[in-house]
Amino acid sequence: MTFMIFDLRLPLMTGLVSKKINNLKGLALVPGDKSISHRALMFGALASGETTVTGILEGEDVFRTADALRAMGVSIALLNSKNDVWRIQGMGENPLHTPESVLDLGNSGTSARLLMGLVAGYPISASFTGDDSLRRRPMERVIKPLKQMGAKFEMSVEDRLPLRITGSSSLRPIHYLMPVASAQVKSSILLAGLHANGKTTVVEPQPTRDHTERMLEFFGAKVFSETQSDGSNSVTLEGGQVLTGRNVVVPSDPSSAAFLTVAALITEDSDIVIPNVLMNPLRTGIYDTLIEMGANIVFENASDKHGEPVADIRVKSSVLKGVRVPPKRVPSMIDEFPILSVAAAFADGDTVMTDLSELRVKESDRLAAIAKGLEATGVKAEMGKDSLIVHGSGHSVEGGCTIETGFDHRIAMSFLIMGLSSRSPVAVDDAKTIATSFPDFAALMNRLGAKID
Ligand code: S3P
Repeated sequence: MTFMIFDLRLPLMTGLVSKKINNLKGLALVPGDKSISHRALMFGALASGETTVTGILEGEDVFRTADALRAMGVSIALLNSKNDVWRIQGMGENPLHTPESVLDLGNSGTSARLLMGLVAGYPISASFTGDDSLRRRPMERVIKPLKQMGAKFEMSVEDRLPLRITGSSSLRPIHYLMPVASAQVKSSILLAGLHANGKTTVVEPQPTRDHTERMLEFFGAKVFSETQSDGSNSVTLEGGQVLTGRNVVVPSDPSSAAFLTVAALITEDSDIVIPNVLMNPLRTGIYDTLIEMGANIVFENASDKHGEPVADIRVKSSVLKGVRVPPKRVPSMIDEFPILSVAAAFADGDTVMTDLSELRVKESDRLAAIAKGLEATGVKAEMGKDSLIVHGSGHSVEGGCTIETGFDHRIAMSFLIMGLSSRSPVAVDDAKTIATSFPDFAALMNRLGAKID
């Protein structure tokens, strides 16, 4: 006899639909930055003494990092649920523990790749796995440098999770030329480099988000970064530096704020404010591009919080025109091409995006997912091996379809935003994945005036 087992924790209906609206108005606080939230937990775990984190992203990906660290002996607790303060008792000089069970990193590439770098520096073994999406993503990019440093790996499929890593308390420092511009790879090597016997240098072909470097300095370490005349960037760190627990305040995520920004731009008569958004120049390429397209975006109350710049973003409905995105800007908006493509669909003329090969290995093959979604919504676009041209019509798009999200939160949110200004509703087949980075997305959008349910 067979039994049907239903997991009652999961809603039975996982899709969402968004419908045309008149305008978006008001103030909306988006959740904490995902990259900084992961790093605050990891550096807090390594540091001596206590770290508190305020405004952390309470999303699935960050929970996976917290659970993995707990499984390796780190105490992480909610200090004050009202104020969103998390407390981490750092391990300091004490080693991490070998976890008793497999570390399941869910959908989170950042958790998997950075934690491998962290485990590499301890004489412990840990098994890593993830969901269908994460198990399809390349891991050789971190395995190769970590092996050179002395970590050992076992896996049944080259370059993929699941795998088992065994670290070492005497890692070799390396000078590593990264073949791809990836902050995850850079951060993984720097985390391992903290435990190496000497100076580790990572050279990235183009500068990528530097939250690891900034947070290492905030926790008391010395890190040297230097941009070369060819545009590459080298980061050097001496092993054996001791981190000291800090109070981290996480600003709002500019990648999440980009969904609200484009929503206000493409809906008529909209005027919204998104306070306290991270304005790190290595993350704000989407805003530079939208402004070039004619977007009415103003940054107010700029300040510096705990080593990172922040500002409030005010956005009003705008008439957009197509632009060419400079290739060197790609790393600073690597997660924003799905939502830029939505803006481009409403712009007048072509938006040309090149050097997008990294989009093929994100939570989904994002380039293919964007092109397929645009076609389904009646937007003309041309996809190349690593490029996309969106032929914007300058007015509203057709819509009237269901988009396959392929376990990709940013594809789901982007096409739900498109539905707010499409002639017919746009549905996404699976919205569960939105909880990885922006659990409150639909409710927050609806408070501004959206119709997403
Ligand atoms: C991240 C780096 C980027 C980005 C990801 C978060 C990070 O990935 O796409 O969402 O926190 O370091 P890559 O390093 O693979 O470009």
